[in-house]
Amino acid sequence: MNRIAVVGASYVGLTTAACFAKLGHHVVCADIDPARIERLQRGELPIVEPGLEELVRDGLATGHLSFVVGAAAAARDCEFAYLCVQTPQDSQGAADLSWVEAAAREVGAVVGSEAIVVNKSTVPVGSTTVVERAMGRPDVRVVSNPEFLREGSAVHDFLHPDRVVIGSEDRAAAVRVASLFLGISAPLIVTDPASAETIKYAANAFLATKVSFVNAVAAVCEAVGADIGDVVLGIGSDQRIGAEFLRPGPGWGGSCLPKDTQALVHIAEGAGYDFGLLRGVIQVNEDQRSRVVDKVRRAAGGDLAGRTIAAWGLTFKANTDDLRDSPAIAVAERLVAEGALVRAYDPSVDDASPVEGAELVADAYAAVEDAPLVALLTEWDEFRWLDFRKVAGSMTSPRAVVDARNLLDPAAMRRMGFSYQGVGR
Ligand SMILES: NC(=O)c1ccc[n+]([C@@H]2O[C@H](COP(=O)([O-])OP(=O)(O)OC[C@H]3O[C@@H](n4cnc5c(N)ncnc54)[C@H](O)[C@@H]3O)[C@@H](O)[C@H]2O)c1
Repeated sequence: MNRIAVVGASYVGLTTAACFAKLGHHVVCADIDPARIERLQRGELPIVEPGLEELVRDGLATGHLSFVVGAAAAARDCEFAYLCVQTPQDSQGAADLSWVEAAAREVGAVVGSEAIVVNKSTVPVGSTTVVERAMGRPDVRVVSNPEFLREGSAVHDFLHPDRVVIGSEDRAAAVRVASLFLGISAPLIVTDPASAETIKYAANAFLATKVSFVNAVAAVCEAVGADIGDVVLGIGSDQRIGAEFLRPGPGWGGSCLPKDTQALVHIAEGAGYDFGLLRGVIQVNEDQRSRVVDKVRRAAGGDLAGRTIAAWGLTFKANTDDLRDSPAIAVAERLVAEGALVRAYDPSVDDASPVEGAELVADAYAAVEDAPLVALLTEWDEFRWLDFRKVAGSMTSPRAVVDARNLLDPAAMRRMGFSYQGVGR
């Protein structure tokens, strides 16, 4: 079992740390935020991620997992230092590597020469060299090990990955990193750092492409009177296409796909290739948010000014508290901008409204009181099981539901007196 330092205690770092501890390693996880570390030391999670709190508490109880402030404190005595810090988009659309560089500098100052520094942050091709340079430690190997977990099922995805990708010029270092995953059954892909880094961006770009594709086909369905549900069933049954990630909705968002697609366009451009396909994918996604707003406006009779609209859901998808680049928020903001009185509810948002000008309420029923319109923006399961007779009783005419996630049964909703619109159905 190995001594692992994990730098960054958020969706990726915390999951990595807790899962490695579960696999029996000794893990010290660091963050720069002392309040976050204090909470973690008490076994409290700063994020919502199913199953993660139990793993953190188990790790603390067995002594396999501990939390410290600062990368240096974690890395001093480690055999592996994992960098899991943010790589946000800069003003040009490229990945901002300053957090990775800062973490690498801190780690480089303290690690022993036998240690391996592993970059798990999503970074452009060539970033392994950036980490090496920032560390200033030619004696220490740097390996790329991109992460593919999904928020909302991060623990499951880490422990049951479709593959583990390791990028290194040094086979011995790659083998040592691979040995950390003993106990996880998954294909192992060992390649060079540039390919590992490209795999991560290409994977996210492909996922974004699938969603934009299905949203574009949903628009065609609406135009020709076809049903996207049946179309997806028909195309998804083809093994060459696959049924996963073909859900129509308000478009993709979150902390990864928007910045990673932009970054790949930027990387390609820098290398002399115009990635027109991916630019199209991004444009379809932008248009999709407007299409949802158009549906709500139409349901309101053409003008949103002064209309009360219940917004169900604000997170970028269900089972997370992550609001970063959420299409639900983008839609709600546009509704507010057009003069609507937006009353929002999300099961994982309970302090201030993240949408300026919108009111945040405590449950889905409070959101619909005297409202003529509902926009269902995030696919939280609880919206499926509401008492819709009670909902209809609280709403005013026309009792319009714009279901941007195709979560509800159109026929049942219409039977209960709602005017229902989904996406592509
Ligand atoms: N969130 C996802 O679903 C996901 C999935 C796969 C890959 N990724 C990639 O993984 C990386 C991390 O993602 P995230 O969502 O966990 O990021 P995040 O922004 O939620 O968290 C990063 C954490 O790192 C901490 N940090 C920054 N610099 C530090 C330092 N020098 N020392 C200690 N802590 C430091 C921050 O305080 C923060 O808590 C990004 O590159 C992202 O693109 C994210």
